[in-house]
Amino acid sequence: GLPARVTIYEVGPRDGLQNEPKKIPTAVKVAFIDMLTAAGFQKIEATSFVSPKWVPQLGDAKEVMAKIRREPSVSYPVLVPNMQGLAGALASGCGEVAVFAAASETFSRRNINCSVDESLKRFEKVAVDALAAGVRVRGYVSCAVGCPYEGKIDPKAAADVAVALQEMGCYEVSMADTIGVGTPASMEAMLTATLRQLRPDKVAVHCHDTYGMAIANILTALQMGITVIDSSVAGLGGCPYARGATGNVATEDVLYLLDGYGIQHGIDMDAVLRASEYISNALGRPNGSRVARALLAR
Ligand code: HMG
Ligand code: MG
Repeated sequence: GLPARVTIYEVGPRDGLQNEPKKIPTAVKVAFIDMLTAAGFQKIEATSFVSPKWVPQLGDAKEVMAKIRREPSVSYPVLVPNMQGLAGALASGCGEVAVFAAASETFSRRNINCSVDESLKRFEKVAVDALAAGVRVRGYVSCAVGCPYEGKIDPKAAADVAVALQEMGCYEVSMADTIGVGTPASMEAMLTATLRQLRPDKVAVHCHDTYGMAIANILTALQMGITVIDSSVAGLGGCPYARGATGNVATEDVLYLLDGYGIQHGIDMDAVLRASEYISNALGRPNGSRVARALLAR
């Protein structure tokens, strides 16, 4: 059966904005995050402490973290690729960091300039120090079903990386369809392999919607007992090191799916629409969520 309650892990300010070519003013990012807080999200991935040479758009991570209004019950995780990133994250006073490994060797090299094994060694150091500082650690497995360079990914390869992340102390591992090539069939195969090793409450899914399959893939995950869904308001996003990747699944579309089943999520759709319109206007582009477009046209 389907879960009674689902947590949305909102990635718009990070995954959604990281690939924007034009510099977005820090004040816009802060206003966007504050609107997401007001909408009732419990998890808002706010920014990345990565190299600004690699991802210039998020070079203002420190300022963003200093200026957002933090609701005490809300977690504002940040992406961290190495110990230097962790130092920045800890100094910003965040309570949660996310590390990101890949199920594909080529993607790992393109995205973080090292092999999968090297990255896991690096992340283990990050996890040990983060946990010692009382900071929670989340893990991502990129290219869990498909890779822009290597094509189809073996479900076992994705599951193995998830196990490694869990063993180093990640409280949850998000299985990511980085380039949105998955279908319910490949999603089911990947999750079947993953759930042989990890409990469903330790697993999240992170779908990009390149081929329009994200909602179907998420429904597959819900049916398999997954209760944490990553998404991005207005369907913002794309990874600079994943050729052809379009945005994340739109949060509004996920909420509409959940509402159809009466699954609880605790988020105020009207407030999400305000955030969605705000950021779409700020970026000067049409709203990427079909549900948002339909609801705003009422
Ligand atoms: P590297 O060049 O091998 O790193 O990059 P390095 O250690 O040799 O350092 C090179 C320079 O970067 C040095 O500066 C460092 O100080 C600096 P220099 O001496 O040349 O002036 N540097 C940093 N600066 C600030 N913060 C840091 C940091 N680290 C080094 N943390 C590195 C390796 C991992 C740093 C780089 O490849 C990187 O930052 N990659 C991040 C790429 C990224 O953010 N990708 C997008 C996020 S992943 C994603 O979107 C997927 C996800 O959504 C799930 C999915 O959909 O699959 C999560
Ligand atoms: Mg992503």
